[in-house]
Amino acid sequence: MSRHEHLERSIPSTSADPKAEVTLTVNGVSVTREVSTRMLLSDFIRHGLRLTGTHVGCEHGVCGACTVMIDGRAARSCLTFAVQADGADIRTIESEAEEDGTLSALQQAFQECHGLQCGYCTPGMIMNIRAHFDSGEELDLSDEGIRELISGNLCRCTGYANIVKAVRRAAELAGKA
Ligand code: FES
Ligand code: FES
Repeated sequence: MSRHEHLERSIPSTSADPKAEVTLTVNGVSVTREVSTRMLLSDFIRHGLRLTGTHVGCEHGVCGACTVMIDGRAARSCLTFAVQADGADIRTIESEAEEDGTLSALQQAFQECHGLQCGYCTPGMIMNIRAHFDSGEELDLSDEGIRELISGNLCRCTGYANIVKAVRRAAELAGKA
């Protein structure tokens, strides 16, 4: 056998990347897709569903830019495989505003208080805060309490002061303060 034939035979004719079907609810809509078992939930949301409001920063669980809600809890979608979310209820930043574009209390507060500059961290920041707002837990709205709340979301632009104000303002607008 020639070297070329040997090389040709050593290459499998089908992809070795296994696939699996997942069904999950995203922003209230049920979706079923076949995905690579190694596809990250962040990539599935952004590329599979074209919901590009979820951002990807570090891709290893540090920055919080990719935060979405999974079954009501804030989670890093870059640390979750799409197949792990099979059957889950996912909520992304696209669920915040009303259909007519009216901003949610959280979004309004970020706008009013200048809680963003480039906006890269903002979707993850908002989904994290949303999970805490919706959980019914008692919120500590002191500066320290808010800083603790957002400690898993890194922002390179704002210095955090206006984000802290925005969270407190959002709590007021949502009747939680
Ligand atoms: S992109 Fe997921 S934590 Fe940074
Ligand atoms: S507003 Fe730019 S990273 Fe936070």
